[in-house]
Amino acid sequence: MQRYLITGASRGIGRAIALKLAAPDRKLFLVGRDQEALVEVFTEVEAAGATPEILVCDLTSPQALEDMVSTLGDEPLDLLVNNAGTATVKPYDDVTLEEWQDALALNVTAPFLLTQKLAPRMPAGASIVNILSVAAKTGFPGWSSYCACKFALEGFSQSIRAELRDKGVRVINVYPAATATDIWDEIDGDWPRDKMMAPEETAEAVAYALSRPASVLVEDITVGGLGGNL
Ligand SMILES: NC(=O)c1ccc[n+]([C@@H]2O[C@H](COP(=O)([O-])OP(=O)(O)OC[C@H]3O[C@@H](n4cnc5c(N)ncnc54)[C@H](OP(=O)(O)O)[C@@H]3O)[C@@H](O)[C@H]2O)c1
Repeated sequence: MQRYLITGASRGIGRAIALKLAAPDRKLFLVGRDQEALVEVFTEVEAAGATPEILVCDLTSPQALEDMVSTLGDEPLDLLVNNAGTATVKPYDDVTLEEWQDALALNVTAPFLLTQKLAPRMPAGASIVNILSVAAKTGFPGWSSYCACKFALEGFSQSIRAELRDKGVRVINVYPAATATDIWDEIDGDWPRDKMMAPEETAEAVAYALSRPASVLVEDITVGGLGGNL
């Protein structure tokens, strides 16, 4: 049975990826903090024939992350999806140190730690998918904290891609544009949700990259609404 771990699987893009990848002979570890929401995804994943397991974890805590990883056992892991993320959106001089550090902890340090702990147990043919953003390539006003995180994850991803290539582990980067998820609830402003992409589009992109033969690496996929960045 293939074993996949998806962070931020309780809603939004992570949930869509979990549902897209749910299939018989796959075990899906669903990581997040919101147990109730994870139970709903568990039910949907199970109905699709996969074997889900919920791992409640606050990924901003390195100790909680390590404890979560230790429950996985020693079996190989075939896929790590670093998806969990948060956005602090405000002018750079209003961002507090705490907000800055919290964003880095979830968006950058957690993928670093998960990669460091899990890549050694990934066989040739396994994949790491990093959910970045168009904000990993372009700075947007008011998005300095978010862009700093995504640019950092971009650099990390490119480097580990080169380091893991010889091991046969593929590092796939996906760059969604604005997507209609709960992440926008906490962001001030009038954001046109109706013009945003559905999270399922990013899940389709991830599934496509994973569906290629193990000898083929789809390095980067940028996907967004035809209306451009909102
Ligand atoms: N939506 C967009 O427009 C967009 C565009 C480009 C890229 N992205 C990226 O896509 C990824 C998913 O975003 P989304 O739009 O789906 O956001 P979302 O709907 O807000 O979901 C965020 C996910 O991250 C998890 N999460 C948040 N804090 C966590 C923590 N401390 N520990 C563990 N899990 C945590 C949440 O789970 P719990 O609440 O259960 O903890 C949730 O499952 C992020 O990396 C985001 O930057 C989003």
